[in-house]
Amino acid sequence: MDDAPLRLLLLFLFLFTLSPAAGDLAGDGAALMSFGAAVGRYVLHWNNSISPCLWSGVTCADNRVVTLRLPGSGLIGEIPAGTLGNLSNLQTLSLRFNALSGPLPSDLASCKQLRNLYLQENRFSGEIPVFLFSLSSLVRLNLANNNFSGVIPPAINNLTRLGTLYLENNNLSGEIPALDFPNLVQFNVSFNRLNGSVPLKLRSWPANSFMGMSLCGGPLGLCPGEISPAAAPTRTLPSGGGSKLSGGAIAGIVIGTIALFLILLVILLLLCRRKGKDGAAKSVEAKPPEVEVALTDVGTLDSVGTNRGAPATKVAASSPAASIGSKKQLVFCGNGPRVYDLEDLLRASAEVLGKGTFGTTYKAVLESGAMVAVKRLRDANTPEKEFREKIEAIGAMNHPNLVPLQAYYHSKDEKLLVYDYMPMGSLSSLLHGNRGSGRTPLNWEIRTSIALAAAHGIDYIHSTSRSASHGNIKSSNILLTTSSEARISDHGLAHLVGLSTTTNRVGGYRAPEVTDTRRVSQKADVYSFGVLLLELLTGKAPSQALLNDEGVDLPRWVQSVVHEEWTSEVFDMELLRYQGVEEEMVELLQLGVNCTAQHPDHRPTMSTVVAKIEEIHRSSIEVSKE
Ligand SMILES: *[C@@H]1O[C@H](CO)[C@@H](O)[C@H](O)[C@H]1NC(C)=O
Ligand SMILES: *[C@@H]1O[C@H](CO)[C@@H](O)[C@H](O)[C@H]1NC(C)=O
Ligand SMILES: *[C@@H]1O[C@H](CO)[C@@H](O)[C@H](O)[C@H]1NC(C)=O
Ligand SMILES: *[C@@H]1O[C@H](CO)[C@@H](O)[C@H](O)[C@H]1NC(C)=O
Repeated sequence: MDDAPLRLLLLFLFLFTLSPAAGDLAGDGAALMSFGAAVGRYVLHWNNSISPCLWSGVTCADNRVVTLRLPGSGLIGEIPAGTLGNLSNLQTLSLRFNALSGPLPSDLASCKQLRNLYLQENRFSGEIPVFLFSLSSLVRLNLANNNFSGVIPPAINNLTRLGTLYLENNNLSGEIPALDFPNLVQFNVSFNRLNGSVPLKLRSWPANSFMGMSLCGGPLGLCPGEISPAAAPTRTLPSGGGSKLSGGAIAGIVIGTIALFLILLVILLLLCRRKGKDGAAKSVEAKPPEVEVALTDVGTLDSVGTNRGAPATKVAASSPAASIGSKKQLVFCGNGPRVYDLEDLLRASAEVLGKGTFGTTYKAVLESGAMVAVKRLRDANTPEKEFREKIEAIGAMNHPNLVPLQAYYHSKDEKLLVYDYMPMGSLSSLLHGNRGSGRTPLNWEIRTSIALAAAHGIDYIHSTSRSASHGNIKSSNILLTTSSEARISDHGLAHLVGLSTTTNRVGGYRAPEVTDTRRVSQKADVYSFGVLLLELLTGKAPSQALLNDEGVDLPRWVQSVVHEEWTSEVFDMELLRYQGVEEEMVELLQLGVNCTAQHPDHRPTMSTVVAKIEEIHRSSIEVSKE
């Protein structure tokens, strides 16, 4: 607990390192303006009468420009000196997917803080400029899909913090120098004109990091004159002299190779069987407690009561059906079709979907074939008048990213809420449910769409009044339609029923300042949403105590990993398959971290969050269009 502020501080130091260098915002603005005039005259509409920090693509920290991101913006031509080079606090420069050409301006060397340089998919040419190698903070360097030529200079090894080196699809020639980056996690030099052998330190990279060239060694097979370790002993047998091998030696090699092959095959088979078993055992263990287990009880709604252990025969006096008098009516919300009544609902065949915070939810199939989700509230002791008022307010909410409340029923012993049935289940089960084979991976596009839709839904709730909040944001309350559109469920119920403190702490979504779960502020919603973002990106359930022995929560775990500079290890392995969106992934991660700030005042508002995710979403669509 005590070191939380320290970690936060470290994180912010990483995100926005302050610079002692001279310069000011006005100077940054002037530099950007002349950059815009040179390569973006008709496409950048920066307004000189407002702060550069508000210009599109620009972000500031400590009143200096630290990020310039103009991916796919139609920039064209050469970048002159005296423009970007004057942005002395610049940390991220992304100009990918433009038509920029010529050499890089050499005064870029003055951007000593530069960590991320994304210049892929342009027409830059000339040699890889030597000044780049003096940018010792550089973590990500992407020069792919340009027309850089010449050799890869060995001085590139000066970039000791490099985590990404993408040079594919250029015109580089000569041999690959003995590259040695301790933190390298992404590497590609495919489709250049490199030749010779792959240096030893790079031989563990897969063949598709070296595609389309006449290289040898490592994943690409033996170089001429190289001996494979296996064949070596046979090869050293004294042969008849000269360079030709004797018949005996050749037979030896053949027999040796076959024997070795057979041994390897047996080992491989054994390993595979072992792995299969381990994998099966793991997938059972790894199932987080929060995943809602689909129970197989099938009956009618009035027979699958709370005594689920007992046989499904009705006990007349205590059965819900008996207590629900036929005089009492379902109250419908909104203008939806009223095609069923309470009787129909109770006669419907029902199946338990899950046991949630507020009670059990059933899928009910009406006689007409229509399906609805019925939530039977547990422990809702709210006085009837208050209950009705609050429920009516929930029913009046109308937004495409909320699961609509169709109707409710209230009596002393029974409170039912009828919602649209969402066939794809919850984000929680999609993320953490079946991780084995047969699972459809949740790609980046789906994940950002889900984040955006959920943010829109919460923003809508917050817009209904200053005190309105969802109160219980978590991945099991994000439900999906068949087309993977996300909708938020259970909005407002926390205010109605209240949560038991223990269940929610286990969930890991609750903001640290929340003490009364019936009074969750909008900023506490933002916190929970931040946890949800981190969950989407890491694939880890916030409730999982596996993050470390002490059960550190997800935000703190992410922060502890992120301050180590390179963040790829925090991401869900499934996401790392998608290339070209690393930058957006990091941006979304940063947003999640901002949302989970300890102090509510330091968290953004939901509308800011929506705008930011929209920007990230747009920029990843641009990437995929190219
Ligand atoms: C620039 O910003 C000022 C102040 O907000 C505004 O009055 C002006 O119309 C803007 N100019 C353009 C071209 O958008
Ligand atoms: C790439 O650069 C070479 C010179 O190194 C030049 O001959 C060639 O035309 C350039 N290709 C493109 C597509 O600009
Ligand atoms: C690689 O190609 C260059 C010409 O581009 C040639 O001079 C050199 O000998 C080649 N090296 C190897 C090891 O094939
Ligand atoms: C390297 O780039 C090539 C061409 O874009 C691509 O086909 C290959 O999959 C990439 N390999 C890796 C390991 O990223």
